[in-house]
Amino acid sequence: MFEQLISQPSDKIMELMAQYAEDNRTNKLDLGVGVYKNAAGATPIMRAVKKSEEILLKVQDSKSYVGLIGSIEFSRNIGELVLNNSVEEKRLSYAQAPGGTGALHQLLLLARATKSIGNVWISNPSWPNHQAILKHLGMNMASYYYFDEITCEVNFEKMLQDLQDMKENDILLLHGCCHNPTGANLSFEQWVEVTRLIQDKNVLPFIDLAYQGFGDGLEQDVEGLNYLIKNVSEAMIAVSCSKNFGVYRDRVGVALVVSEAEKKDVVQDNLKSLNRLTFSFPPDHGAAVVNQILQDEKLKAQWKDELEEMRTNMLDLRERLASELHRETKSNRFSFVSKHRGMFSKLGLSAEQVEVLRKDYGIYMVSDSRINVAGLRKDVINYLASAISNVI
Ligand code: LMR
Repeated sequence: MFEQLISQPSDKIMELMAQYAEDNRTNKLDLGVGVYKNAAGATPIMRAVKKSEEILLKVQDSKSYVGLIGSIEFSRNIGELVLNNSVEEKRLSYAQAPGGTGALHQLLLLARATKSIGNVWISNPSWPNHQAILKHLGMNMASYYYFDEITCEVNFEKMLQDLQDMKENDILLLHGCCHNPTGANLSFEQWVEVTRLIQDKNVLPFIDLAYQGFGDGLEQDVEGLNYLIKNVSEAMIAVSCSKNFGVYRDRVGVALVVSEAEKKDVVQDNLKSLNRLTFSFPPDHGAAVVNQILQDEKLKAQWKDELEEMRTNMLDLRERLASELHRETKSNRFSFVSKHRGMFSKLGLSAEQVEVLRKDYGIYMVSDSRINVAGLRKDVINYLASAISNVI
């Protein structure tokens, strides 16, 4: 039977992780997968998370099932964090899912179940798993211009031009903040324009929100998204807690749907059924930990402080890298590094240059020249900048 199977294309981020693990060089530098690292190069458990786990250990008295859509309280708390009251509760449906990817997957299943979806529009480039999941689910895709490889900024004019071809019932997939892989983001004014286009074209906005709090701040990072939600009748949002709570392996995510109030019951019912058909009950531990943090004033304040510390560290690393690159290359070519936001920046290097960095310098970045800024340390910035300057 299994001789019928064919090998699957590997995800370039996962492939890079494996290559890095096999490299014996002591000065190797991992700028691949999106995981936050502190000054010592470790990914510690956030203190608020550890504290919440300690409390949970004491108070949790059962491991019985919670429910097919997980904890409603948890999802509502995440909804509050993400939406800031931009939509009435009676228009919201939720389902807890295993991580942001799980939420994405479930929401695409929901969209597919409507049997009315045309193309799903994704940015060029986008997180590679977007395209892979869409292909896996047999959904039609179209791509829109997003990132200018020369300026390393968003080319909004070209983006709008491409999106003019959207048809009614298409889906427009947007990154809520901290665009992955580029780090180049829409301004608030551009969100307003995109919202207008969504209304004109009558397409369904689908927002992937995996880095809230990593860009300009918890509330600032969702200002564009909140404006959009206030002004559309339907939307889907896949939320991940992996990064901003640092609970990567616990798989904590929420599938959120905004609909007209009279459609809420049927949407909610479908989300529940899709969970049942895919994995039955979503994993609880991480969600319970996050929920406790969001409910407890003190823990929440501590979590916000820690998140802010991560964010400002990343900004500091960006500033330092941009200025080191300026010094090494004697040009402003890389000044965008300090303007990008979130974990990632796409540097605009060729695949060959990226390969030389890996082979000759032990520097690992995704082949499209995406670096994980949060994987940097101050003491290696000079090494990275001079290596980049040598290969360009
Ligand atoms: C990334 O883009 O590196 C992260 O979102 C991790 C992943 O699953 O790809």
